[in-house]
Amino acid sequence: MSSGHSRKVAVLLGGRSAEREVSLVSGRECASALRVAGYEVVEIDAGPDLAQRLIAEKPDAVFNALHGRWGEDGCVQGLLEWLAIPYSHSGVMASAVAMDKERSKEAYRAAGLPCADSGIWPASEVQARHVMAPPYVVKPYNEGSSVGVYIVREAANGPPQLAAEMPARVMVETYVPGRELTVAVMGDRALAVTDIVTDGWYDYHAKYSTGGSRHVVPADLPAEITEACLDYALRAHVALGCRGLSRTDFRWDEARGLAGLYLLETNTQPGMTPTSLAPEQAAHCGIDFPALCRWLVEDASCDR
Ligand SMILES: Nc1ncnc2c1ncn2[C@@H]1O[C@H](COP(=O)(O)OP(=O)(O)O)[C@@H](O)[C@H]1O
Ligand SMILES: [Mg+2]
Repeated sequence: MSSGHSRKVAVLLGGRSAEREVSLVSGRECASALRVAGYEVVEIDAGPDLAQRLIAEKPDAVFNALHGRWGEDGCVQGLLEWLAIPYSHSGVMASAVAMDKERSKEAYRAAGLPCADSGIWPASEVQARHVMAPPYVVKPYNEGSSVGVYIVREAANGPPQLAAEMPARVMVETYVPGRELTVAVMGDRALAVTDIVTDGWYDYHAKYSTGGSRHVVPADLPAEITEACLDYALRAHVALGCRGLSRTDFRWDEARGLAGLYLLETNTQPGMTPTSLAPEQAAHCGIDFPALCRWLVEDASCDR
């Protein structure tokens, strides 16, 4: 979108994925930041009437603040291509590939980026036997942070009993012990490395609830690991064909040095409250939240 401040921006938020609530929070924060930045802003809760709402509002650009299925996987991007409305973040193909953790790995491996061994299995088989030697992780391969990740530590524990909401096919991946790192990429620049420190016992849910984790940015790491994270995140963004802002998650097994660093996934619609990981890294680089939101609007485009 070309510059100019009285431009009208539609912020898409909510939607119908499992991450609806997170998106409502992100979207409202982005909408107020864009108002501060001087745009005329309309907030659209993405429901079945989304196309009609967009046609009626005639925005100059869409700020996509949706997360998860439909909003982050290429679906809404396809609608915006069809309506020829420039939109923020990644396009159809990058969104679809990044949302699928197995396809992402194919792109990572082709680009020479390290990821843990994994396979896709029917959930029924995963529940019946250890399909991989423990420790391993079972997770959906096409959902965001709100759906279960199971860690199977020892063979003696038996295979996991999965929640009914888990998809019929799941990803089983080698467990990578150690630290949780993440890097946001803004255009052609990797911003910083954040160490996500979970206090006390290891509980997946703790990390996503308020006060459940601490963000250390910049992470206190050997220079070689910081450099590798920044380099890998930028290469992942390029390999997947991402646009605008993305955020790549890593696990680092410190005992193994550089060989213990693995990409987990790239989020094409990372959390966008002022205290979310990517905005925190932007702030660390001197880019405040309204400036980040403005940059995303100015970067909006269609693939076609
Ligand atoms: N192979 C793994 N080894 C260790 N921890 C993992 C592994 N895969 C996932 N996790 C844990 O589960 C979290 C969510 O997994 P991730 O692959 O990032 O999916 P999503 O964020 O889409 O749910 C990670 O941040 C990490 O804490
Ligand atoms: Mg993740």
